[in-house]
Amino acid sequence: MFSSLLLSITLVASAVTAQTTTDVNSLIAELITAPDHSSRVGDLSQDSEARRVYLFVFDFANPPAAGVTTGAGGHLVLASVADFPALVGNGIAIAAGFLGPCGMNTPHTHPRATEFLYLVNGSLTNGMITETGSRFIINNITMDQAMLLPQGSIHFQFNDNCDPVHFVSALNSEDPGVLLAAQGLFGLPPAIVAASLGQIGVEEVAGLATIIPDDIAFGSAECLARCGINPGQQPTNEQVPRVSGNALPSAIMTASTWSPSATTSYTNQSSNQSRSILGAVADSSSGSSNTPSRMQPIEIALIAVVGVMGAGYIVIAAVFFWRRSHQKHNRSYVRPGMKGRALVPSFDTDVSDDKPYDPAAASEQSLYSHAHA
Ligand SMILES: *[C@@H]1O[C@H](CO)[C@@H](O)[C@H](O)[C@H]1NC(C)=O
Ligand SMILES: *[C@@H]1O[C@H](CO)[C@@H](O)[C@H](O)[C@H]1NC(C)=O
Ligand SMILES: *[C@@H]1O[C@H](CO)[C@@H](O)[C@H](O)[C@H]1NC(C)=O
Ligand SMILES: *[C@@H]1O[C@H](CO)[C@@H](O)[C@H](O)[C@H]1NC(C)=O
Repeated sequence: MFSSLLLSITLVASAVTAQTTTDVNSLIAELITAPDHSSRVGDLSQDSEARRVYLFVFDFANPPAAGVTTGAGGHLVLASVADFPALVGNGIAIAAGFLGPCGMNTPHTHPRATEFLYLVNGSLTNGMITETGSRFIINNITMDQAMLLPQGSIHFQFNDNCDPVHFVSALNSEDPGVLLAAQGLFGLPPAIVAASLGQIGVEEVAGLATIIPDDIAFGSAECLARCGINPGQQPTNEQVPRVSGNALPSAIMTASTWSPSATTSYTNQSSNQSRSILGAVADSSSGSSNTPSRMQPIEIALIAVVGVMGAGYIVIAAVFFWRRSHQKHNRSYVRPGMKGRALVPSFDTDVSDDKPYDPAAASEQSLYSHAHA
């Protein structure tokens, strides 16, 4: 009796919660645990003309921020279960792509969905590899054509034009997911990435990871030149966060977005390689991982340039002092007219007596003395 009362109070409370909540996550939880379809429709009863909230309508022109992915070359809007709770139990999502001139949806896979991409206008280059061993497939589709991109395939879209294009993709999962290929690969342990790319070195891995542009990126230098676009600095915020398992060695820790708590488990090979470039690095096993020294290849190159310039100054100074002492030593051989003229002004007292007559200085001195007379 008491327990059934408690249960009904709980049910009423949860129904009230469902009606009043604006928290998408709790609404999703509500929908997932609803016993049947009509209960879910009941949960989705917050339509409001005034607030422009329609629980069965998704506005791609005015989407929730959580569904938007923006890069230098355009943006994507994804209506999936996370930002459109009505999709719970329906097994479908839609992505809308807005690619600017030369915009490229960078290579990626959808772990849980096949994509069927419909091009609204313009033309669009679609390429994919569906699995290792199968051939590369590329198609230039035009307005009103659609391309199938099977689940798990690595694929990209490239707008090789100077006008923006617009596409719409159906995905057969309410939570299709996306795995960006370059960011995903470079989010693995640096030594593993270095080895899988043919032992390119952990510094190179760290350097490359920091320049991978966010989706949507710019597609090709040829297109940018043709369309007169300066790509500038593209954002690089979509890197896989560094945790202890995929941390960079502390000596080459770089991007500020990476976890400051990252530890250095892969120090063995990398510290050796760092030494070979830098000559010496801080001992990466000394637990200094919380204060990473931000050393990357460009900085190493800058240090080398500064070092060479510094050595140049030392050589110039040595030559100067050698010449000066050489001149002093040979003063008796200098022509009378050249006496005391050094290439570089000297403030040594022993040469001040040899100053030749300077009319300008003399008149200045006489003017000065007249003024004070
Ligand atoms: C495609 O449609 C978008 C949005 O309506 C528009 O901005 C763009 O200029 C169009 N592109 C072409 C090639 O017609
Ligand atoms: C794709 O096809 C369209 C229409 O035929 C054409 O204008 C465009 O140049 C093609 N793009 C590429 C990259 O071949
Ligand atoms: C580094 O090398 C030492 C000795 O070779 C080994 O015991 C240790 O596990 C290595 N550390 C990592 C992270 O591989
Ligand atoms: C690092 O260098 C030391 C000394 O040269 C060597 O004993 C060690 O095996 C190297 N570690 C790796 C992982 O190559």
